[in-house]
Amino acid sequence: MNSESIRIAPSILSADFSRLGEQVRAIEASGADLVHFDVMDHHYVPNLTFGPLVCEAIRPHVSIPIDVHLMVEQVDAMIPLFAKAGANFITFHPEASRHVDRTLGLIRDHGCKAGLVFNPATPLGFLDYTLEKLDMVLLMGVNPGFGGQKFIPGTLNKLRQVRSRIVRHLMQGGNPVLLEVDGGVNAENIADIARAGADTFVAGSAVFGAADADGGYQSVIRHLRERAIAAR
Ligand code: DX5
Ligand code: ZN
Repeated sequence: MNSESIRIAPSILSADFSRLGEQVRAIEASGADLVHFDVMDHHYVPNLTFGPLVCEAIRPHVSIPIDVHLMVEQVDAMIPLFAKAGANFITFHPEASRHVDRTLGLIRDHGCKAGLVFNPATPLGFLDYTLEKLDMVLLMGVNPGFGGQKFIPGTLNKLRQVRSRIVRHLMQGGNPVLLEVDGGVNAENIADIARAGADTFVAGSAVFGAADADGGYQSVIRHLRERAIAAR
């Protein structure tokens, strides 16, 4: 595994919202590969965060891709708004969409990369007929809604299952698909998570919990990346 094939995606859910522009600039300067953007609507999950206007506001501050994770019930209505706001990836929870295939098409028609997100108890069957339409599979390491939760160990087995599906898909000439993990990722467990097959790692509290004043973000991101690379 070389360093390019590992991606670290700090989640701005744990950033200081009063200075978001500065915070996303800091993570890009510290080596982040993606900005992970957690959209919560207080219906699909209990929490309520930010929408397309905030995505549009941070867009000019970074050149790395914005990875929009929709934890909302009105998935289809949100897609054009986030595409217009500068999202690069849009992922959604398949059980929140009435027509998963149509929603994936909608994301791609709007020029974004598409992904499905699986909660800890969501079965992987949604991958059976969708893998060729996906750019990313996102496995939740926690139940969605809040940062700072503890990683659920059963996610490792699920990651291995998705990794073998992706390997099979690639052997059959399929398009590349990123395997992202979100929730509870930190320097202690990232090696196990990487070994189980993840290549893209969301980290909220692990990154923004560090003080940036003394290069804190940079050293956390470097450390996470090094541990992930060494594990694979
Ligand atoms: C949880 C969010 C995560 C969250 C991760 O619903 O989707 O992206 O920000 O936060 P940590 O890394 O603190 O678990
Ligand atoms: Zn997320």
